[in-house]
Amino acid sequence: MKVIKTIAAMKVWSDACHTKGESISFVPTMGNLHSGHLSLVDTAMTLADKVVVSIYVNPTQFAANEDLDKYPRTEAQDLQLLESKNVDVVFMPASGEMYPHNINGNKSIEYIDVPELAQQLEGRARPDHFRGVATIVKKLFDCVLPDHAVFGEKDFQQLLIVKNMVAVLGLNVIIHGEKIIRDEDGLAKSSRNQFLTTALRQKAPILHQALISARKEILSGNVNYAVIESQFIDFINNNGFGVDYFTIRDAVTLGLPTVHNRVILVAATLGSTRLLDNLRVDSTK
Ligand code: PAJ
Repeated sequence: MKVIKTIAAMKVWSDACHTKGESISFVPTMGNLHSGHLSLVDTAMTLADKVVVSIYVNPTQFAANEDLDKYPRTEAQDLQLLESKNVDVVFMPASGEMYPHNINGNKSIEYIDVPELAQQLEGRARPDHFRGVATIVKKLFDCVLPDHAVFGEKDFQQLLIVKNMVAVLGLNVIIHGEKIIRDEDGLAKSSRNQFLTTALRQKAPILHQALISARKEILSGNVNYAVIESQFIDFINNNGFGVDYFTIRDAVTLGLPTVHNRVILVAATLGSTRLLDNLRVDSTK
């Protein structure tokens, strides 16, 4: 497994692959890898000749009040996991590589503009977050030159925004969305779960249970979405969470729900940890 730390070396490696007629699949991450990330790597393995995983904690997707410095960094462990998966390249650029200007107050970063879709749900709680995500994903694509890229449905809105960016900019990469990997009790795997105390960790699967119950209710024919939403917001709040949103949407546009392609999205704070989850209503994927 090769570890590449500069954009120039990454491009040389990717160009050489393409010259040899080899295809590349890519899994972008911020490290602190768990089985959710690794399932994306497994999918990537089936899609192309070579697999590249990036590990980069992207400063532009963190707000000033979100602690970029506290993001868990577990480089040695991550590299070991990726080596065991037979990944070909780990791209680990330094911040100076990805953002050559000083990002503090520097207005010269060229951001990727994001659609209105990015202003709601996670974007409302975290303004500028998706602008940072779209910008770094485009920059990483420009370095890795992937034929395929794999993202998790765990970050449902992020996946839609990346798909939208690829369509709007006409990028030559196929985006794959992969199902959420969960712990046995249903809690979606996340780097943030480690910040839950034992008592809160026991409560956390309530989010997934609420999603399943809401889906059941919708599939039984109840389309009074507003009532279902407020019923489950109360239920989750009554279990000690602070709900930011629990909402039933169309799974492609995140607009008003359509009958055949609905998704339920939830964000809630437990202790000081913000948890995200979602569940497709009309498909099992
Ligand atoms: P990160 O949070 O490290 O997640 C990397 C990828 O893993 C994302 O596509 C995310 O949706 C996926 N993932 C996380 N938990 C998962 C789970 N339980 N099951 C399945 N997939 C899961 O998302 C980011 O990093 C960043 O925003 C990034 C795209 C790398 C840009 O900086």
